[in-house]
Formats: sequence, C-alpha cells, structure tokens
Amino acid sequence: MAIASDIERAMEDSSWIRRMFELGIQLRQERGPENVFDLSLGNPIAEPPPQFFDELRSYAGADTPGAHRYMPNSGYVETRQAVADALSDETGLSYGPDHIVMTVGAAAALNVVVHSLCDRDDEVIILTPFFAEYLFYASNHTAKPVVVGCDDEFIPDLDELERKLSERTKIVIVNSPNNPSGAMYPGSFIEALGDLLRQKSTEFGSEIFLVSDEPYRKILFDEHVYPFPQLAYERTITVTSHAKDLALPGDRIGYIAVHPGYDDGGQLMDAMIFCNRVLGFVNAPAIMQHLVRNLQTVTIDTADYQQKRDYLYGVLTAAGYEVRKPEGAFYMFPKSPGDDEMQLVAALQRQGVLVVPGRGFGMEGYFRISYCVEQRELEGAAPGFVAAMSELTGG
Ligand SMILES: Cc1ncc(COP(=O)(O)O)c(C=O)c1O
Repeated sequence: MAIASDIERAMEDSSWIRRMFELGIQLRQERGPENVFDLSLGNPIAEPPPQFFDELRSYAGADTPGAHRYMPNSGYVETRQAVADALSDETGLSYGPDHIVMTVGAAAALNVVVHSLCDRDDEVIILTPFFAEYLFYASNHTAKPVVVGCDDEFIPDLDELERKLSERTKIVIVNSPNNPSGAMYPGSFIEALGDLLRQKSTEFGSEIFLVSDEPYRKILFDEHVYPFPQLAYERTITVTSHAKDLALPGDRIGYIAVHPGYDDGGQLMDAMIFCNRVLGFVNAPAIMQHLVRNLQTVTIDTADYQQKRDYLYGVLTAAGYEVRKPEGAFYMFPKSPGDDEMQLVAALQRQGVLVVPGRGFGMEGYFRISYCVEQRELEGAAPGFVAAMSELTGG
C-alpha cells in the first residue's frame, strides 16, 4: 500500500462514516429516495440571505481590475477592517485589521492555529461531545489530542479538565453552540474556564490558548445571548466561518481573530499568516472576501431552524427519547435507549432514517440528528423514531 500508514489507520478508524454513506445510497436504491430520510449531514438547506445575492450581482457587474490577484496572505485590509468593526461592536473590545486573518473556512483556520502554536506532542484539549475532525486537526500537526468529558447537559467537566491540563497543554478548543449537542455553554462556565486557564498558565509558566470555534455563534434560539469567551480570557483566539450563518459552506470563507489585548499578538499573527501560506491555503478566496465584507451583520433567518428544533424535540420526547433541548446550531443529540447506540442506529436504518452514532463525537450511547433539512424529511422520519424506540424497548 503506497499511502501513509497513519492515514490508512485514520481511514479505518472513521470507516463507519463511509459505511453510513454507502448504506444511504443502498437504501435509496432499494426503497426509493422518497422513503429515505437522511438526517446525518450538517449541510444546511437554508439559502444564503438576499443581501448575499445583491453583493454577488454588484460584484459581477463591476469588473474591478485586479480583483482576482494575490493579496496579503492575511486577506484584504478592507475585509479585515469590516470583520474587526463587527467584532468590536459585538464584544466592546478594540479589534483592528491586524488582529484578523481571513481563511478558507473554519476548518483551515483551526489547522492554521494548531500549526502555529503546537510543537510535537504538545497537547490540544478537546471537549466531549466534539466535532470529530478536531482529532485530525491536532494530529495533522503532530500535536496530541486529549479528550475531556461532560455532564448530562453536555457542559464540559471542569474538574476533569483541571486534572488533564499539563505543561504540554497549548490549546483548549471550545465549540459553542456545539456540534453535535446544540448546547450553548453558559456564561458561568465560560468565566470559570477563563479563570482556570489563567491560573494554570501562571502555575505552569506557560501560555494556554482558548480556541473558540464558533461557526454556529449566530444560530441561537429563544433570545439566548452568546457569552463571548474573549471577554473571559485574554488568550482567546476566535475561529469561525460563514458556512452556517450565511449558508455558504461550499464557498469556503472564514476568519481567525486574535484577542486585541493579547501581549504577543503581533508575533502570533505573523506566525498564522505564515502558516496560512505554507499549509497551502495561501489566502482566503478573493471573491468571497469581497462579498462578505458588507455582510458582517447579516445572518440567515434562524426562525426556520428554531421551528424545526421545536418540531423534532416534540416528536422525540413524545416517542420517549431522552433529549436535551438545544439552544442553537441545528443538531440534536438524544440518548439511545440501551447503552449501544449502534443498535438504535441500525433500527432507525431499517425505518429508512439515517443518523450518526455518538461514538463519532466521542460519546457512545447517544446519536446525532441534523435537522437542517426540509420539514417534509423530518415529518417523514417521525414514524421511524417511534418504531425504532418500540423495537428496542419492546414497547
Ligand atoms: C464545529 C465545527 N467546526 C468547524 C467546522 C468546519 O467549518 P467550515 O466548513 O467553515 O470549514 C464545522 C463544520 O461542520 C463544525 O461543525
């Protein structure tokens, strides 16, 4: 086999994802696509807001000379200024263009941050349940992922975190609202986390960074107010994208923002701009930087996702599932009846409903439902949730 053994192993470890995908194709062939309800993907059905198409049309009509050339690796200064202005307005901190790097989505941003900060075997703390790619974003750069558990509400266990922080800890990644649980970490948790990281950095004589991965920050329900981690801790690096808040996942645009009060911010920025280049991203797509410049305060209509959350929550609780009502994002993470969620996932498949087992997010006994789908898909899946529960509980 010519491929790297690490990659071969990683592909084997995540082969259930491929199996799910293949099973979806097989089920569609067997039953007809209208009888298969795929709730496994986080690919939003929302269309970008009308302002995006206005920007696109006006950009296409302008034929601006030089608009497609290379630019500084951190991105256009006008776009970084617009991002900085919006972040300053929201947080009350003084962000400027020199605190921002435009990136190829949040995925690239996370890789750039880890590559910039971690020496070999430095530790990256990942809080359960987690976006599975974090494990690779650490090991891609020879850092070591260290996993920390959570309570029944999916709020990370701070005592366990305290025990696992070490001289080698470089980064703690937080993701709120969370994929897969939809939980927004409360302000009290964020403040306690900031205090702990400050205390441990002093104790170890090291610098522990809080990397806040926020692609779902603007998808919040019920008037919840987002507790900004950078207000609780000065070594916060914000990472985000417009994949979900402007529904542009295929267009690959996001950014990194370094806390304006961080002392060595200049050196850190230089490192991240360098890493953006040498990891091969070079710069974020020029067109997208032009388009999102004027969209920093625009978000898709979240009311539709909230209605779907309410509908699905009603279906699941009526069917007897234990599930925490999410504050944001577009995922739900119910407990499976019985400890082995693979049995439930298989029972749901027999009903034509595709979901993702919790072990893919570091939590066995749970499963993830993505409800960023058409309402008819959710309604089609509803009887399957009831039938799978009866099958497993003998009800
Ligand atoms: C928690 C989380 N972080 C990062 C990403 C990657 O986002 P992007 O498409 O902007 O790279 C995703 C995508 O689903 C995600 O759920």
